[in-house]
Amino acid sequence: MACKMNIVFDNGTKMPALGFGTWRAPDDEVEKALNEALEAGYRHIDTAPVYMNEKTIGKVLKEWLDAGKVTRNELFVVTKLPPHGTRASSVEKFLKRSLADLQLEYVDLYHIHVPFTVPEVDGPFLMDDNGEIVLETTTDHVALWKAMEKVLEAGLARNIGLSNFNQRQIQRILDNCQIKPANLQIENHIYLQQPELVEFCKRNGITVTAYSPLGSKGIEQLLNRQVPDLLDNPVVKEIAQKLDKSAAQILLRHLLQRGISTIPKSTNSKRLRDNIDLFGFSIDDADMQRLNELDQNVRICDFGFFPGITKHPEFPF
Ligand code: A2P
Repeated sequence: MACKMNIVFDNGTKMPALGFGTWRAPDDEVEKALNEALEAGYRHIDTAPVYMNEKTIGKVLKEWLDAGKVTRNELFVVTKLPPHGTRASSVEKFLKRSLADLQLEYVDLYHIHVPFTVPEVDGPFLMDDNGEIVLETTTDHVALWKAMEKVLEAGLARNIGLSNFNQRQIQRILDNCQIKPANLQIENHIYLQQPELVEFCKRNGITVTAYSPLGSKGIEQLLNRQVPDLLDNPVVKEIAQKLDKSAAQILLRHLLQRGISTIPKSTNSKRLRDNIDLFGFSIDDADMQRLNELDQNVRICDFGFFPGITKHPEFPF
């Protein structure tokens, strides 16, 4: 069961609409899970240095490429500039580090992971005496984007994009860029549909990828608070029952029908297969409308795991 739907960038690049998310996929689980995901037909793989699994992902991809089970052209690999690299002078270095770990010559899409910056140190991010993360407040998005354009021109990334940027921040880049962002990766699901931001991106020819499409239940420990259970929503469950699909499939299909690409994470064999089995059914207009009406503007991934980050001048939310 391959992903039979593509999202097409303004420059003609095709990205499989359904990708394999690896945030919170621990290194010891990701090897087996990625093998299973590739077997199940996933070709779009989303990672980042802060997920601490790029090396294992690189190892698996190399095995598949060396064995001729997949070609490089069939893969769509996405990684990101980490928060301690969000400055112009760091872009090439961090991208080259990711490429070495991934054992690739280029990535298909390179994102700026977050619009804020923390100091570059070896090891965990620096914390101050109040238990807050140390900030680097000189973040310059225009200079940063120029450095992103350079790595694209050098062939290290085929496309460049943004993640977790707000509309004002994106507009500033659009006003100052030579090459516009191809994609915006943001939290998006039934309870945080962000219609204005999605519409803004569409108007400007920027495609959108949804992270946390299933509500990232597993993040509760990291955030130290409860998060809503999207899979338990009665409307979602009722539509799932009617179409003989799982609640997860309804949440994912809802995003695809909104024209949004998505990257559910699962390291469970059955669930990761379920999550890509989305192409033999559709949600009708009336049920799409009911799902659209579930929006509550509730953000799950508010970066609460970075205490004090809201004090950064470029904190986006
Ligand atoms: P697991 O990896 O054990 O399957 P998100 O992509 O929104 O961050 O959500 C990921 C969370 O949802 C993980 O805890 C993952 O657990 C779980 N999950 C992934 N796919 C499904 C599914 N089809 N049904 C239920 N839970 C799922």
